Amino acid sequence: MTSKDFRKSKQQGLPSESELKILKTQDGSLSLYSNYFKESFHSATGALKEANEKFFIPAQLERFLITKKISFLDVCVGLGYNSGSFLEYLLPRKIDINWWGLEIDKKPLEIALKNDIFRSNWSPEVINFFESLITRAQWENKFGTGNILWGDARAKLSEIPTNITFDLILLDAFSPPKCPQLWSDEFLNSLARRLSPHGRLITYSRAASIRASLRRAGLYIRNLTPLKKSNTKWSAGTIAFKKNQLKASNTQNIYETLSPMEEDHLNTLAAIPYRDPTAKGSIKEIHETRKKEQQQSSMKTTASWKDFWFSKIG
Ligand SMILES: C[S@@+](CC[C@H](N)C(=O)[O-])C[C@H]1O[C@@H](n2cnc3c(N)ncnc32)[C@H](O)[C@@H]1O
Repeated sequence: MTSKDFRKSKQQGLPSESELKILKTQDGSLSLYSNYFKESFHSATGALKEANEKFFIPAQLERFLITKKISFLDVCVGLGYNSGSFLEYLLPRKIDINWWGLEIDKKPLEIALKNDIFRSNWSPEVINFFESLITRAQWENKFGTGNILWGDARAKLSEIPTNITFDLILLDAFSPPKCPQLWSDEFLNSLARRLSPHGRLITYSRAASIRASLRRAGLYIRNLTPLKKSNTKWSAGTIAFKKNQLKASNTQNIYETLSPMEEDHLNTLAAIPYRDPTAKGSIKEIHETRKKEQQQSSMKTTASWKDFWFSKIG
């Protein structure tokens, strides 16, 4: 990258290649660390493991063996683990796929595709999918079509034709404190409006502000049940449904209602949303607006909520 390119990418708020560091996670799969966002792309326990536990299992793709078609949106494609693991399941089962992706930066996927460990994780069909996204921003095969819109997801979402709705939306942005622009009340509302009647939005985040925004957007919020429940008082993420579906298709207890403690978390200052009415706010502006709203709010503090519930449950 020339110094001119570097300055340009900085001006656009894009991380430069030198700001991405390759990491190997504990399950052997490749990940990246972003110096720009000061965060890893995946948890240290494994990029593939995370895609499986936080997105693949909660999606319950077996449901689409009956309808034989699926439309899904991957928000923050990154190295493509979430969509890649979905396609490994869907393609051999000949399910008609309508895929869309949003991602600001090509470099994570470009770096990954140059790496043998990454390539060895995927079938030739999925490698072809990734390569098509880089070279043509499009993909098609007998069973599906895909389009990736490179750029800021806040602006690009509205370029997806309005007649397209999604059975699944995977939201895998950097954490709310690091990337609040993709967790704002407005952006989450826009995503919610893109869900099909039985659609679900899946995210690893269990933050009170995100859950409160999703609920305000008219969705039914459920906990993603942790795989090892005894290890945590908390859920493993959030599944937000367009329709109330507590029992339907939950035979494996993948999700559950919020506990009284988690419900009460939504009454605290932590539930104040990130706001971005122009869809162009900077990280700093979004945080400042939220901080002001928290200072003016009469909601209870997270500390008093913790004191109450942690003394109750020990
Ligand atoms: C946690 S990583 C995603 C990991 C990814 N799902 C995977 O499986 O590798 C977050 C991603 O969000 C992207 N991103 C950051 N800001 C964005 C924005 N405003 N619009 C679209 N993508 C953005 C980053 O480039 C990064 O690839």
